[in-house]
Amino acid sequence: MNNTVFDFVGGTTGDWKVIKVATLRGDDLPEITHINKVVSSLAHNNSGIWTLKGVISNLRYTEKAEKEQLIAIQEDLGRPLATHAAFIPLRKSAEWWNLAQDERRKIMEESSRHTHTGLQYLPAIARKLFHSRDIGEVFDFLTWFEFAPSDEEAFEELLYKLRKTEEWNYVEREVDIRLIKV
Ligand code: HEM
Repeated sequence: MNNTVFDFVGGTTGDWKVIKVATLRGDDLPEITHINKVVSSLAHNNSGIWTLKGVISNLRYTEKAEKEQLIAIQEDLGRPLATHAAFIPLRKSAEWWNLAQDERRKIMEESSRHTHTGLQYLPAIARKLFHSRDIGEVFDFLTWFEFAPSDEEAFEELLYKLRKTEEWNYVEREVDIRLIKV
C-alpha cells in the first residue's frame, strides 16, 4: 500500500456527494458536487473540475507505543456504517517546514497532543493521511475521515480541539469538505 498514489477527483459525479464546504484558511477550491477517490499514478491525470493527488507514506512522528495503540484500535475505511466522510486538504507554512524534525514532533505531540487527542476518537472515526508536498501538489496533506452519522458531533469536537492547538498556527490553507456516500 505504501507509495500508492490516490486521486481525489472533484467534479459532478462520484461515490461521495458533497453536503458542506468550508474554507477555513487560504484560497478556496472551485465548486464541485461530488468527489471520487481513485487509485492512480503520478503520470496519470484524472479529469474533473479539480484533481488532488496524495500518496500513502511512512509515519514521520509517531513513536512505537503510539503506533501500537493506533494499530490496536483503528478501523479501516469502507465500513458500511460509515456513510459520512470528511475530506480536508491542508497546507502548512514555510516556517513549519523550516523547523527540524524534533521541533515539529514537539509541537505536534508534546504541545498539541495530536495523536493523544485523536486516539480518544477511535475506532468511531476511521482515518487516512495522504502526503502531497513531496509530489509537488498545492496542498501538503490530504486527510480523509469516515464515520457514522451518529459520530459526527464527536468528529466536530475533535476538530475543534485540534484547530486550537499550537500545531494549527502553522496551517495556512485548509478546506473542509463534508460528504455522504452515494
Ligand atoms: C498526522 C493521528 C485526526 C490532520 C497524524 C499522525 C498521527 C495522527 C499519528 C502522525 C503521522 C506521522 O507519524 O507521520 C490522528 C488520529 C486522529 C487524527 C488518531 C483521530 C481521528 C486528525 C484530524 C485532522 C488531522 C481531525 C484534521 C484535518 C493530520 C495532518 C497530519 C496528521 C494534517 C500530518 C501532519 C504533519 O505531518 O505535519 N495524525 N489524527 N488528523 N493528522 Fe491526524
